[in-house]
Amino acid sequence: MKAPRIPIAAPGRTLPPPALRPDIESVLLSPERIRRRVARLGDDLTREFSGRELVVVAMLHGTVVFLADLLRHLPLPLQLDFLAGSSYRSGTRPGVLRMTRELRLDVRGREVLIVDDILDTGRTLEFVRDRIARLRPAGIRTCVLLDKPSRRERPIQADHVGFQIPDVFVVGYGMDHDERFRNLPFVGVRRITPLKGDGG
Ligand code: IMP
Ligand code: MG
Repeated sequence: MKAPRIPIAAPGRTLPPPALRPDIESVLLSPERIRRRVARLGDDLTREFSGRELVVVAMLHGTVVFLADLLRHLPLPLQLDFLAGSSYRSGTRPGVLRMTRELRLDVRGREVLIVDDILDTGRTLEFVRDRIARLRPAGIRTCVLLDKPSRRERPIQADHVGFQIPDVFVVGYGMDHDERFRNLPFVGVRRITPLKGDGG
């Protein structure tokens, strides 16, 4: 099977609304571009899972906006469940992932689609996939809105990817920095260096 072509998004010159400029450097993905791509992902998934009953397992909280849009492009019999994890560092050890919310549905013998916002180092998706695999589902597929392949530390790829992006920290469309910016309708690049005239 031919590998699907994944759209690439790079930081451009589109500026966010003036009030957000101290925090957001640029708009990476416009609402319209996201809308079109999510509809396309929905079509691909619908074709792949047609005739099968699906359990969608979404990772909280970064997926909430993406998920709400994606679900409306999945006219399939499905059930929805959520997982949440948190990663914390102790000393010099790399972040240890720990689940803070477990599945409520029984996925044994079922088709599972794991949905996450970003595939970054791959630690989260690998951890969650292996954990679900132990519950003996019929199959596991994965779908992420964004993929940062340059950051990968684990040998894992997602089966469905919205956009490939470079190593920038993004917020909006559900994604946060310190729990802020999830409500932005676009995906933006978080500003790291202060604007001139900010006093720093
Ligand atoms: P991984 O385990 O390193 O692949 O990280 C995946 C998780 O890190 C994602 O589900 C996000 O919650 C978070 N993350 C990674 N990159 C970003 C980013 O650029 N913005 C916001 N969250 C991010
Ligand atoms: Mg996340």
